[in-house]
Amino acid sequence: MTVHFIGAGPGAADLITLRGRDLIAACPVCLYAGSLIPEGVLAHCPPGCRIVNTAPLSLDQIIAEIAAAHAQGLDVARLQSGDLSIWSAMGEQLRRLRDLGIPYDMTPGVPAFAAAAAAVGAELTLPGLAQSVVLTRTSGRATAMPAGESLAAFAATGATLAIHLSVHVLPQVVAELAQPYGADCPVAVVWRASWPDQRIVRATLGTLETAVGAEMERTALILVGRTLAAEGFDESRLYAGDYDRRYRPVGSDPRFPVQP
Ligand SMILES: C[S@@+](CC[C@H](N)C(=O)[O-])C[C@H]1O[C@@H](n2cnc3c(N)ncnc32)[C@H](O)[C@@H]1O
Repeated sequence: MTVHFIGAGPGAADLITLRGRDLIAACPVCLYAGSLIPEGVLAHCPPGCRIVNTAPLSLDQIIAEIAAAHAQGLDVARLQSGDLSIWSAMGEQLRRLRDLGIPYDMTPGVPAFAAAAAAVGAELTLPGLAQSVVLTRTSGRATAMPAGESLAAFAATGATLAIHLSVHVLPQVVAELAQPYGADCPVAVVWRASWPDQRIVRATLGTLETAVGAEMERTALILVGRTLAAEGFDESRLYAGDYDRRYRPVGSDPRFPVQP
């Protein structure tokens, strides 16, 4: 018996890996994380599957469901939104399973920040502008930010920011970022990326609050950085015609000569 933790993707039912889909289809028990998992993903559950929405459950109750399946030798598909490696409350579930000696494995999923970047049609790393992406959030009721992980601290690097769980504190986000990035720095807010009702607002840090208005839906990601509306960036050297590399030797004395 194994608990298969599966990243179910950002929303669109077809943004799940083939491995994740096949594991769901093979498990007689499926625990899923509430409204963030689309019905189309649950449709892969086999007939007769025990399907449990864990949104109203405590950690103890979730583990009790898993322990009951374990006692019967039934594999479990545990679906969480996006990818498993960020803000999935998975660490605490894994620790309990280790304590109980229940085997598990993990199948990654498409994270929301990637779906948001796809929605706005942007590469978040561009030569000369930003070569790092910071996946971060602001303090919430349940989770405080560790000292040193402020938006201002990340902004000092100039990296592209993908700010989660924070659309309800836009004034705070703008206040912390406007000075380091400049009021003209591009921003895109993407609600429910990849869902049928996806919405995008493009603005700058200076216009963001007005552009977003009184929007209440919280499943949104805030992308901030010069890469978001950039045209004047350098092309990558990797594909430059005169760039000598292993798979495309160039010149009379290439670093990686083609073997006869
Ligand atoms: C608890 S975190 C889960 C993150 C998830 N594990 C991932 O890999 O993206 C929830 C936050 O992720 C962001 N999020 C999740 N799904 C999203 C989507 N489809 N569109 C925009 N933001 C999303 C929002 O910032 C939301 O508040």
